[in-house]
Amino acid sequence: MPARPPDEEAALHVENLDVTYGRALSALRSVSLTVPHGGVVTLLGANGAGKTTLLRAVSGTLRLHRGTITGGRIRYGDTELDGRDPVAAVRAGVVQVPEGRRVFAGLTVDENLRSGGLGLGRRSPALVRDGRDRVFTLFPRLAERTQQAAGLLSGGEQQMLAIGRALMAAPRLLLLDEPSLGLAPQMVHRIAEVVREINAQGTAVLLVEQNAGMALSLADHARVLEVGEVRLSGPADELARTDAVRRLYLGEQTGTDHPSDTGQGAA
Ligand SMILES: Nc1ncnc2c1ncn2[C@@H]1O[C@H](COP(=O)(O)OP(=O)(O)OP(=O)(O)O)[C@@H](O)[C@H]1O
Ligand SMILES: [Mg+2]
Repeated sequence: MPARPPDEEAALHVENLDVTYGRALSALRSVSLTVPHGGVVTLLGANGAGKTTLLRAVSGTLRLHRGTITGGRIRYGDTELDGRDPVAAVRAGVVQVPEGRRVFAGLTVDENLRSGGLGLGRRSPALVRDGRDRVFTLFPRLAERTQQAAGLLSGGEQQMLAIGRALMAAPRLLLLDEPSLGLAPQMVHRIAEVVREINAQGTAVLLVEQNAGMALSLADHARVLEVGEVRLSGPADELARTDAVRRLYLGEQTGTDHPSDTGQGAA
């Protein structure tokens, strides 16, 4: 059997994905994207476009929200992901940092971090130690607060903890849902640096963001979702130069104001 190229072993392929909530609400229609091994891909889009839904489908948490994959497929290397099994996703190396930094407020920083590897079954103390060392190197502030209740951390610190908890499972692909939301500019800058560092350590990143400037500066490739469909797709630096992205997502004046340039013609 011919060996797969190494790239394929840890690449995420989403192909023609359809997702509905409940009986009727179609949240994604024929969405495709690829995150290559070690790459950074960003998914932009307005509120309700379906960004979180896509991450839920990949991380297997869709069912917890009454969502169903009704068409297409998700493949991570050799593993088929079905939208229903978060543990299978974590075992395959795919870990999501949920929207809204959902840390366990009543648990300490340390307990939150330890919870990050639980889905993997028995973990050796050495793995836990390595994971904590990695997290504390990235986020020295957490190292100073290991016994503090997570609910008492600042918003930025809670986001760090949410990312740190995900890193405890040693992901090969990290799914980040709006890590910059509600944070002061300095903290947004720090989060961007951290994403770069995590990626430089070999972890691929699928980044959902409304802060398009930050996301496009980090990503190799970008997709723009509008009402459940991919409207624009391409290298991040090229998309950042298009009129539609500059005006709608970067808040710039572009001089051309034809609706057809926005990709929203059918909306
Ligand atoms: N659990 C749910 N049950 C029913 N509908 C849902 C559920 N979660 C999301 N939706 C709907 O699916 C669509 C996509 O929502 P989703 O949360 O994926 O958007 P989003 O792009 O992440 O938006 P935001 O930027 O506001 O986070 C929306 O119309 C939303 O109302
Ligand atoms: Mg969302």
